[in-house]
Amino acid sequence: MENDYEYKYKKYKNKYLDLKGGVRLAQGLEGIVFRPPLISSIRNPIYETDDYVGKIMDSEEAVKEFYNSQLVKELDPNGEWSLPIEMISLINPSISSNPEYNNFKVQLISKFGGVSLQKMVNFDDDNLTLINYTKIPLLYRIVKEQIIPIIDKLNEKYLHFDLHLDNILYDENTGKIKFFDFSKLKSKEGLKDYEDYATIFFSLDSITRAIKSRYPVLAAYKKSIGNPAIDPSKEKYITALQSLPDL
Ligand SMILES: Nc1ncnc2c1ncn2[C@@H]1O[C@H](COP(=O)(O)OP(=O)(O)OP(=O)(O)O)[C@@H](O)[C@H]1O
Ligand SMILES: [Mg+2]
Repeated sequence: MENDYEYKYKKYKNKYLDLKGGVRLAQGLEGIVFRPPLISSIRNPIYETDDYVGKIMDSEEAVKEFYNSQLVKELDPNGEWSLPIEMISLINPSISSNPEYNNFKVQLISKFGGVSLQKMVNFDDDNLTLINYTKIPLLYRIVKEQIIPIIDKLNEKYLHFDLHLDNILYDENTGKIKFFDFSKLKSKEGLKDYEDYATIFFSLDSITRAIKSRYPVLAAYKKSIGNPAIDPSKEKYITALQSLPDL
């Protein structure tokens, strides 16, 4: 059966065809990502290359995401661990204001940041045979060496609030990861401090469960950590993530 994404894509596809720009890189819940970005009404050759991607989305959501990205940039001015949105651009006005879109569509432009961790391991809940097992040790290493320290930095002020493996990009040239998609960012005050650790824990846990038969050592790992979701705390989730086995 045609899923929502495909439906949405087909619906918009013909309208995008008369826009010049890149190929569809991904289809998220909120937007369609093109690399290079679609050509905007104001031309800027810098953004018209493979070094950039553009996410087409509702203007209201886009403005929020752009604003959140600026907040994160204050914590990480040199973009060491986060991928900032560089600009909001209009796409062809006759199209972006077409009432059939329901809402006004704009494009968020950011640097191409590599492949999401979810794509790196090719994890698809519905088709476990596709998992790229050779990348699992790398994924676990990334969690321990990079993800935990980056969450700590972000959590000085904010919670990402949507920190699953498809919202973290891996650059295979540098071996470094970057957080992105700050559309749900929240100020930390008054909220539970383990939210981001829990989200990443559960998205890893579904992979871990899926590959247990391949890596018997994971069964022992799971036994040893218990279930951090029972009486959850930041420390419990960190301990669980840090004790992922070296495969
Ligand atoms: N700068 C980028 N570099 C490389 N890939 C990207 C970039 N931005 C987005 N992508 C790809 O597009 C996908 C969707 O992007 P994004 O997370 O921003 O959209 P979304 O609609 O908010 O998704 P969701 O709400 O499902 O998390 C990402 O998971 C990633 O695979
Ligand atoms: Mg996303």
